[in-house]
Amino acid sequence: KRPAGAPDKELARKVTKVGVIGAGLMARQFALLFVRRLQVPVVITDLDQAATDAGVAAIHQEIDKLYEKGRLSSDDKNRLTALVTGTTNKEDFADCDWVIEAIYEELGAKQSVFAEVEQYISEEAILATNTSSLSVEQIGAKLTHPERLVGFHFFNPVAVMPLIEVVKTPHTNDETLSTAMVTAKNLRKTAVITTDTPGFVVNRILAKVLGEAMHAVDTGTPFEVVEESTRPFGLPMTPFELLELVGLKVGAHVLDTHHAAFPERFFESKNLHKLAELGFIFDRDSKGKSKGV
Ligand code: CAA
Repeated sequence: KRPAGAPDKELARKVTKVGVIGAGLMARQFALLFVRRLQVPVVITDLDQAATDAGVAAIHQEIDKLYEKGRLSSDDKNRLTALVTGTTNKEDFADCDWVIEAIYEELGAKQSVFAEVEQYISEEAILATNTSSLSVEQIGAKLTHPERLVGFHFFNPVAVMPLIEVVKTPHTNDETLSTAMVTAKNLRKTAVITTDTPGFVVNRILAKVLGEAMHAVDTGTPFEVVEESTRPFGLPMTPFELLELVGLKVGAHVLDTHHAAFPERFFESKNLHKLAELGFIFDRDSKGKSKGV
């Protein structure tokens, strides 16, 4: 069944080489998924050689782990490892037909990096952003061809979470949207098409839950009480575990964006910003006691 709003899959372009901008937490995970599922070269870049090398090494290590678990043959391991390379030269993206970014959530940085990459790629190449809370249309504001840009939002851990939000801007054309839908299917994920609104669908709902949990703390309830109160819900993780998984800085950014967009419905949390600086909520090694705020 064709998902709501999806154009004909006949319009999809072939993806024969993938470019990944950013070599951090999310980029590493989806770079691995692209190489495993599409079996095409994946070239990855970050701000400098050291960050790029660290990303490539981490992906190679994950490939090794899959081999050790018996999920890849030795030939597959060697082939996939060779397919993942790093570069600090964006000219190496020239023959990529799908370029996806997952750098830090700063509008200007994302706009510049796409404008730079657009100088090298072909007219046919698609650009995708994994942004979780910025406007995809604004990210494409400096593009000569904004019709080739689409949001492609993964969830952490990428290997396990089945959903991708495909975000359509007013400019995204049918070829781009169709390529995104077919690519998501080839990655064996479930794709939904969302509008370009703050938080799309999932983070809007998640921000409510995470924001309420932080608000309870901000207004005097101890962390431990919120944590224990939410455990029996049967969710795979408590709100604080989820914040730790996605990263406290990312979590704080998501809450800020929602508060800015819908101030009457979402809280901002000063404590979450403090925790983001500390880098953790619970010191889980010392029996779950919060050393946070
Ligand atoms: N990377 C890769 N694989 C992972 C993983 C990771 N970080 N964590 C767990 N897995 C895999 C395990 O290898 C295991 O796979 P197999 O069964 O094939 O061996 C499987 O997931 C289950 O793992 P576990 O049994 O160890 O753990 P679990 O049953 O406790 O599940 C979990 C772990 C899948 C993370 C689960 O707790 C969960 O679903 N949590 C909620 C995650 C969530 O909501 N993510 C969305 C966050 S929002 C976001 O990402 C978007 C944003 O913009 C902020």
